[in-house]
Amino acid sequence: MSTGLGQEIVAVINKLQDVFTAVGSSASSIDLPQICVLGSQSSGKSSVLENIVGRDFLPRGTGIVTRRPLVLQLIHRPATVSKENGSAVQANGSTDKAVNENEWGEFLHLPGEKFYDFHKIRAEIVRDTEAKTGKNAGISPQPINLRIFSPNVLTLTLVDLPGLTKVPVGDQPKDIEKQIKDMLLKYISRPACIILAVTGANTDLANSDGLKLARDVDPEGTRTIGVLTKVDLMDQGTDVVDILAGRVIPLRLGYVPVVNRGQRDIDSSRPISAALESERQFFENHMSYKTKAQYCGTPFLARKLNMILMQHIRATLPDIKARITQQLQKYNQELQSLGGPVGDVSSGNVVLSVITEFTNEFRTVIDGNTNDLSLNE
Ligand code: GDP
Ligand code: NA
Ligand code: MG
Repeated sequence: MSTGLGQEIVAVINKLQDVFTAVGSSASSIDLPQICVLGSQSSGKSSVLENIVGRDFLPRGTGIVTRRPLVLQLIHRPATVSKENGSAVQANGSTDKAVNENEWGEFLHLPGEKFYDFHKIRAEIVRDTEAKTGKNAGISPQPINLRIFSPNVLTLTLVDLPGLTKVPVGDQPKDIEKQIKDMLLKYISRPACIILAVTGANTDLANSDGLKLARDVDPEGTRTIGVLTKVDLMDQGTDVVDILAGRVIPLRLGYVPVVNRGQRDIDSSRPISAALESERQFFENHMSYKTKAQYCGTPFLARKLNMILMQHIRATLPDIKARITQQLQKYNQELQSLGGPVGDVSSGNVVLSVITEFTNEFRTVIDGNTNDLSLNE
């Protein structure tokens, strides 16, 4: 699936998000679309995100591993470096580099530093998590911002969140359940948040904490997608067909079943490509799923997500534009009262210049007729 013009819109949203992160909270009233994972601890949230990205880089495992929100911008970028003989060709003509120069990550807190080694990205996430929360299971609402540039991803913004948990461990406070809930609510309450409600298929859907919380903030189910993980761990003779058919807890946007890597695969560093291939085989060969295999698994989830995101952005773009204009007017007035822009270093001035720069850069997209956007060109 090529995303065409829609791709441009998502690029706009990603840029906006950077702008507002950079200028601080003063403009945070503007809601930008994001996809958040929501579910119990160890339900497979980080694994799902990692499979969508197609690269190993997220800390995963049993227990509380994700302890700060990770705002992850995937940016599709066509390959610019030839890989014909299996290695990247550099500008000087040498071909001896093992890394893929077309794929890298950048952290907002480490500007200008490109990470080509995804294991180092994971190490940096762990390092910065521990720096802000300690080593003993503490959590923090302060997000880590990471962008991944790659020819192999759909352009999406994803947020990995700590899991819902009830019993405090390590240095966690007594009210850990409420603290995590409040943190999650900050993300999922926003009308612009698309919720990936993750539930292990080997647990009872009726007890899914993620689905319950999603229903609290999205009672109509217009922005909640169900993801069923661990389908491979279900008891013999059981399947998720009734759930997929909407006969258990119906969701307007439906459910997608997936198979991620198990803990043994993680311990043996099983490559993601091998895992995606066996996921495909699992659904294609399974008696319960073989007739609907094209609606199962990670690739289908990624396509579904991208389409929902496009529709969502298209629907919210006029509102975003109105709010930007509003902010601009507000800061213009502020500037007038301060006697004009020259030589002034007030925060309003900084925000204005950043937003002005942004709107100039993306004027055609923001002013354009959003009805012309095609989802599948
Ligand atoms: P999170 O805490 O929700 O982010 O969950 P993780 O992604 O860290 O995964 C928790 C554990 O469940 C890890 O040991 C994973 O290997 C395992 N896991 C996640 N999804 C699946 C799956 O679909 N199948 C199997 N067999 N194991 C899974
Ligand atoms: Na976990
Ligand atoms: Mg996690």
